[in-house]
Amino acid sequence: MKSPESAAQRSFGRRAAYYTTSATHADPQVLARVVELAMSGTEGLASPKPSWQALDIATGTGHTAFALAPDVAHVLGLDLTPQMLTQAVALRQARSIANVDFCLGDVHRLPFSAESFHLVTCRRAAHHFSDIGQALDEIRRVLRPGGRLVIDDRSVPEDDFLDALMNRLDSYHDESHVQEYRPSHWARMLEQAGFSVKAVEPYIQHRPLTSLTDGASQKNVRRIHRALQGLTPAQRQQLNLAERDGEPHSNHWYLLLSARNG
Ligand SMILES: C[S@@+](CC[C@H](N)C(=O)[O-])C[C@H]1O[C@@H](n2cnc3c(N)ncnc32)[C@H](O)[C@@H]1O
Repeated sequence: MKSPESAAQRSFGRRAAYYTTSATHADPQVLARVVELAMSGTEGLASPKPSWQALDIATGTGHTAFALAPDVAHVLGLDLTPQMLTQAVALRQARSIANVDFCLGDVHRLPFSAESFHLVTCRRAAHHFSDIGQALDEIRRVLRPGGRLVIDDRSVPEDDFLDALMNRLDSYHDESHVQEYRPSHWARMLEQAGFSVKAVEPYIQHRPLTSLTDGASQKNVRRIHRALQGLTPAQRQQLNLAERDGEPHSNHWYLLLSARNG
């Protein structure tokens, strides 16, 4: 069986250009909140923010790295998929950003010495990581004591039915999907890894069905349709499945998290 990492490289390699313009990935409101959480309440780190070294893990085409760049000395964007980084380099050039660089790497084996960064961000990617515990240990290792971690990711509400359904739909959408976690699960994992949780901010976006079916195989598109057609009226309501502008839309759950190292 393919590992989630090789599946991610294949899937993101194929769709890299899409992520440069994807409205949900370039969403200025969410990016602004990531920056706000990264820059707020960072007591315990003596260095002033303009001298910070930041690491953006699973940077993709660089949206988060570019959003952080004006506030810190340098951002390094790391990603598993070379084609995503090719797009990121082209975007950096188009925007004439001087303090962002990119490198290939896997979150489970970060190629940096301990305590290299003041800030780590990781956006819309943790649900692809094959071993989230190892990923969090690696992130903590490369963060300075008192350093800040900000995560934005797909999530699920504290509800067994929606948890199982959303994880099933997302595994049909993307073969590199591993798991999207509830807010309480995230808080537990962060505390277990040695972080102090500072903010847990769930949010919902009502998105078209195409956001699940685009890029999926024909077989998986049929599975998505079957799963939705099999829902009871009460379950459709839980998913907020409704027509908007002639297209079915449903809720997608997300989570912003901020934590301190130690
Ligand atoms: C949806 S994109 C990320 C979007 C980006 N962070 C942003 O804010 O626009 C998910 C990325 O996760 C990367 N990825 C998946 N597994 C990874 C891993 N184990 N280590 C590093 N990157 C990984 C993929 O290559 C892909 O570029």
